[in-house]
Amino acid sequence: KKSFRVVVLPGDGIGPEVVGEAVRVLEVISAASQDVEIKLEPHDFGGCAIDSTGEPLPPSTLKACQEADAILMGSIGGPKWGVNSKVRPEQGLLALRKALGLYANIRPANFASDSLLANSPLKPSVAEGVNIIVVRELIGGVYFGARQELGAGTDADTAWDTMIYSVPEVQRITRVAGQIALQANPPLPIHSIDKANVLASSRLWRKVVTETLQAEYPQLALDHHFVDSASMFIVASPKKLNGVILTENLFGDILSDESSVIPGSLGLLPSASLAGAPSVADATSPDFKPTAGLYEPIHGSAPDIAGRGIANPVGTILSAAMLLRYSLGLEKYAQAIEGAVRKALDTKTTGGFELRTADLGGSVSTKELGDKIVEILKSSL
Ligand code: NAD
Ligand code: IPM
Ligand code: MN
Repeated sequence: KKSFRVVVLPGDGIGPEVVGEAVRVLEVISAASQDVEIKLEPHDFGGCAIDSTGEPLPPSTLKACQEADAILMGSIGGPKWGVNSKVRPEQGLLALRKALGLYANIRPANFASDSLLANSPLKPSVAEGVNIIVVRELIGGVYFGARQELGAGTDADTAWDTMIYSVPEVQRITRVAGQIALQANPPLPIHSIDKANVLASSRLWRKVVTETLQAEYPQLALDHHFVDSASMFIVASPKKLNGVILTENLFGDILSDESSVIPGSLGLLPSASLAGAPSVADATSPDFKPTAGLYEPIHGSAPDIAGRGIANPVGTILSAAMLLRYSLGLEKYAQAIEGAVRKALDTKTTGGFELRTADLGGSVSTKELGDKIVEILKSSL
């Protein structure tokens, strides 16, 4: 049996609730499989780690992450460690992404099930057929540029952040977008999003994206949008942006939350943060190269609903599927999870009943939805 080590970082707020369901899913696969074993190893991270150790990313957690085959995270943060705290959970997440070199954040915004069309706030005619994958640069830009806090430095009533990109940083994320686009059949168009009418870093972005794709992926269609109008198209006519949305760190953060409106809820979307392009080879082929990665839903710790057992676990469960696909090379099991989620949400499977958590207008609990997904998954293995 091939054995994999997966570090689990439940984190804060609804993190432990949604991770609990994804862990059950991975345990089902590990137990059912003849050929693989998945060893899950929980560690403190985020606000709970600040409480127990004084820092959001304790050295023991970082070390475990560096040695693991993959990391599954819930969410971190909350009012207890708010924006005015000196030590904040979010600093731990940024430090972890940076330490592991996870520059490529992949956030598909597709329908986990066609039945969700009925739950989208968008009209079915607008939402139907949307197929968007956001590829967000994750360890550059204004998140990591030089910064001065209010009250520091010589000009004490000033605070600033720097949006900075280098040519190689944009080249490497462009290549990831190119690979993702080519993995689809037919290949997906690339929509690069920037603010090149104002920002120097965006003019660099647009130039490097254009040159890199022309030189290395000439077969891919490419267009450019300014981030203001793109944010309008995402909810007004999202099919215009079908394909790969390629963008920098802050724009990608904002646009990916916005894109979750299409399938209906922030709680539905998974993500993979990778240190390179995921392998284009089929997972069963000898060419398959696993990519180290951190997998997490795109949402936060949802303090407004934490502790009530009503959070939507689908984004985290689908993140576990991405983990199996990209870091462990277990495509078959990734598809089994995605299939189980699709069926659980499909009103044909449930005799017309909409198995929905509160974010989608239902009254099903986190665990009830997890139970159904686990039940369907077990019967499919
Ligand atoms: P949030 O994503 O936590 O919540 C926004 C809204 O979406 C809330 O109404 C919440 O209830 C709802 N929501 C989010 N996930 C849901 C789910 N799975 N099921 C049902 N409803 C869900 O954003 P916020 O409130 O702005 O931030 C709260 C904290 O989370 C902050 O400390 C922030 O920094 C942190 N955060 C962490 C991550 C992460 O861990 N990767 C991501 C985003 C925000
Ligand atoms: C996300 C989050 C993080 C980000 C925060 C918590 C640092 O919003 O993963 O989308 O801005 O990247
Ligand atoms: Mn975010």
